[in-house]
Amino acid sequence: MTRTAKPLTSPSIRRVQQQLREQARVEQQRNNRRLFHEANRLKRLPLYLFTILDQLKAKAQARGVDVIDLGMGNPDLPPPTHVVEELVKQVKKPENHRYSRKDGDVERLLNDTIAQWYHRKFRVELDPRTEVLPLLGSKEGISHLSLAFLNHDDIALVPNPTYPVHFNGVVLAGGILYNLPINAENEYLPDLQAIPRSVLKQSKILFLSYPHNPTTAVADLKFFKEVIAWARHHRIMVVHDFAYSDFMFDGHRAPSILEVPGAKEVAVEFHTLSKSYSLPGLRFGFAVGNQDVLASLAKTKSYIDFGIFRAVQWAAVKALSGPQDYVERAVALYHTRRNLFLKGLKQIGWDVPIPKATFYVWAKIPLKFSALTSLEFATLLVQEAGVVVSPGSGFGEYGEGFVRFALVEPEPRLKEAIRRIARVLQMAD
Ligand SMILES: Cc1ncc(COP(=O)(O)O)c(C=O)c1O
Repeated sequence: MTRTAKPLTSPSIRRVQQQLREQARVEQQRNNRRLFHEANRLKRLPLYLFTILDQLKAKAQARGVDVIDLGMGNPDLPPPTHVVEELVKQVKKPENHRYSRKDGDVERLLNDTIAQWYHRKFRVELDPRTEVLPLLGSKEGISHLSLAFLNHDDIALVPNPTYPVHFNGVVLAGGILYNLPINAENEYLPDLQAIPRSVLKQSKILFLSYPHNPTTAVADLKFFKEVIAWARHHRIMVVHDFAYSDFMFDGHRAPSILEVPGAKEVAVEFHTLSKSYSLPGLRFGFAVGNQDVLASLAKTKSYIDFGIFRAVQWAAVKALSGPQDYVERAVALYHTRRNLFLKGLKQIGWDVPIPKATFYVWAKIPLKFSALTSLEFATLLVQEAGVVVSPGSGFGEYGEGFVRFALVEPEPRLKEAIRRIARVLQMAD
């Protein structure tokens, strides 16, 4: 759907456009002057979203602006005390500073703990030795999975917009990226039947992630059943990124794709401690599911990394086996923030659908600003309001026309953000 608006000509908007052009020119010049040119696979990547945001934020801060950062999905809550205490205790033990070995004590305990956690939450049975693989954060595992499986003539099917690692990993691995456009009309679920036969024949991996970043969409077990039947028929691997498994509101529950009978034949699922336990700095995630896929991912990683700091593994055991009320409280808090923020946006005339899940808000750029790209609009918000948001285009070309708010600041700051955004919205009146 195309939206039209008369071009905005305010000086602030002209400044934003000028600044972005200048930034691109400087970047180009810097690249031209380099002695060592990057590999083509790096050049094919779009500028990483958070790099752009960091640059915008740094510029505003240098001007003395008190920036409200709703850009990155970087949880602001203090992590569970018992997990931090365990980490501190384990860091002090010399034996935990040695290389991690697969058959070590905490290594075995960790895999057992993950399998038990999975069973408690999703009633899915996992063999802790072969169907569980701890990772240095789920992002690391997801991008290495593409490296493990994609040849130059293999296609990865990736919904668009999506969390950038799903497509960037494919490009880095040298595979072929095939976008599956998702939008409000198809409830942000890819239409697998619309994929041409010739594409299907070359396809090896389908990436999915529900609850969905950035659109906040959810998927039910019926959808997952259809996906698994389709994937088994076409012999395509399904990679489900389940980073927001706990972030469901209004009493709903997010199913694991492995709940579908037979899913393990084709699917793996990725989890992280970064969101539910507010531990993004710990760098801990894990993958579960198809044992052959996990073995190849482990093999790839064995050439690249040396496993996870053992103190981190002890902390992960504590997080997954200890009391879980922290997670419930965190989700309730994000729920309150969601209500407050949505109400605030509505009051200032920006009507946005209520997210059913995640801690994001996916908002169509107001009509009177729709002549701007999402990057231009996000730049305007940083410059004029000191509010950082993610431009929708950072999540793929089908994210253009939207911005994403991450509700990772406390309530008073969210209220302040609304007040400041209101001033920007009035600019074009
Ligand atoms: C959908 C999704 N998957 C994975 C990640 C990365 O998680 P981790 O910190 O485990 O690498 C994020 C982070 O924002 C995400 O949104």
